[in-house]
This record gives sequence, C-alpha cells and structure tokens, in this order.
Amino acid sequence: MTQNKPLTVPAEEVKSCCANVYESDWARLLLGDSFHPGGLALTERLGELLRLGPGKRVLDVAAGKGTSAIFLARRFGCKVVGVDYSGRNVAEAVRAAEEAGVAGLVSFQQGDAERLPFEDGKFDAVVCECAYCTFPDKAAAAREFHRVLRPGGSVGLSDLTRAGEAPPELRTLLAWVACLGDARPVEEYAGHLEAAGFIHLSVEAHDEDLGEMVRGVRAKLLSAELMSKLGKLMLPVGNLDQAKQMARAAATAVEQGSLGYALLIAVRG
Ligand SMILES: C[S@@+](CC[C@H](N)C(=O)[O-])C[C@H]1O[C@@H](n2cnc3c(N)ncnc32)[C@H](O)[C@@H]1O
Repeated sequence: MTQNKPLTVPAEEVKSCCANVYESDWARLLLGDSFHPGGLALTERLGELLRLGPGKRVLDVAAGKGTSAIFLARRFGCKVVGVDYSGRNVAEAVRAAEEAGVAGLVSFQQGDAERLPFEDGKFDAVVCECAYCTFPDKAAAAREFHRVLRPGGSVGLSDLTRAGEAPPELRTLLAWVACLGDARPVEEYAGHLEAAGFIHLSVEAHDEDLGEMVRGVRAKLLSAELMSKLGKLMLPVGNLDQAKQMARAAATAVEQGSLGYALLIAVRG
C-alpha cells in the first residue's frame, strides 16, 4: 500500500534540515544521546541478530553523534565506521569515541547514505537506525547498503513504520526529519531491500518502544515550556507549538496503531 507523499521538498533540503535538527542542542534535550526508540537495548538486539563479534567490519549509516557505533564496538568487539550527513555530528562522534577509549575500533566520516563514500564489499554488516525513513531516495540507499556489503553480509534497519495516511500535522518538513512524515509501511522498506538484492528478510515489531519515546518527548516539551515561562530557558516559540502539535499527533497515531517501529534484517544475496 502506498500513501501520498506528505510534501514536496528538494532532496538536499530534507537532508540538510535533518542534519541541522539532529546536531542541535534541542535534539539532545528531547531525545538524550541515543536518537532512536528503544535506545541502546534495541541497538544490542540489532547487533545480536546481525551476529556481530570481534573482527566484523560494521558500517553505521546515519550514525548521529556516534552513540550506537561506540556501543556496538564495546559490546561486540567489532570495528565500526559511522557515516553521517552532519559534519558537526561527525566531529562530536569522533570526540565521543576518543573519550570512550575506542578510537582504535570506531571511526566516523561525513557522507550521504544515498552515495556512500566506500568501496564495494567493504563491510560485513550495515546498520541504520531511525534514519532510513528520512532518506528522500530510499531505493538508492538500499542499493548502497547492498553495494558496500560483502556477499553474505547482513543489513539491520530499525525504523518508524506507517499504516494509512499521515494526518496534516505530520505532513511538514519538521515531521519528515523527525522520522514521522515519510515513514512508510514496513512492506515498502522490505520491498526496497529485496529490489536491491537482499534475501532472507525478517521483521520484528517494536511499537512499544516508539510509544515510550513519544511519551518521553511530550513530557520534555512540557517541562521545556514550563522552564521558559519561568524565564529559565529560551525557546523558539513557533517551533515549540509546532513540535507539541506534532508530538500529540504522533501519540494518537501510535495509540491507533498507524505508527509503529520495526527492525528489519536481511542478507546480501
Ligand atoms: C534520528 S537521527 C538517528 C541517529 C542515530 N542513527 C541514532 O539512532 O542515534 C538521524 C540522523 O540521520 C542523519 N542523516 C539524515 N540524512 C542523512 C543522509 N542522507 N545520509 C547520512 N546521514 C543522514 C542525520 O544527520 C542524523 O544524525
């Protein structure tokens, strides 16, 4: 099932906006260090399903501030390269890896998921958490995941999924980069992976993790508003109202079962 595109925005504008949002202090205030539902517990699940271990070469696409890449290297002993569109996130991730003492296992570089700056067959596993749904050309990103994996390597995506039409509050650029506006049915993600040449696809639902994240974000938005009324925090007022409307619409969609979170694993055929 395909639904209407929420809005038409040039692809590079979507990517830059997404990078700007997730490098901002606001993202950290509302989401903490790990920018996806389920946090590092779900990252660990992804690593187990991908059978990561010492000696494995892993690419984390859209690695954000490096939290998952650092965690995977520590937990599984694998080597991880993180790539992100945002130069500021890459710089922060490099610092975080040095501080965590894993700079020998983890590195980061700037790049676009739709045009990965790596040679063919370089990695044993590709992970991409809570970012695939923001890529304007999802089919191209799936083909890139396939290209940079060795034959028999695995991809693990975790992302928002949608059933049915998005309400108007979730058809904005902000909603798109908040992973809400262009979330698609899980079958559509699976279709992109299979069209790119992936096989043995499996899906796990983790909708409850999304519900928890949305509740957390709504609570933080309310406390940010309160702090601002007390004069203790400067807020971009228009954005706060929009963010509150968006979070309310997301909470309703999660309750109604039209927004969810899924983990997809597949093997490079
Ligand atoms: C919701 S955050 C997820 C970050 C990280 N994967 C995590 O789970 O903590 C989305 C990330 O995708 C990055 N991003 C957006 N479009 C991208 C693209 N085309 N290529 C690479 N990174 C991209 C953003 O800069 C941001 O860091």
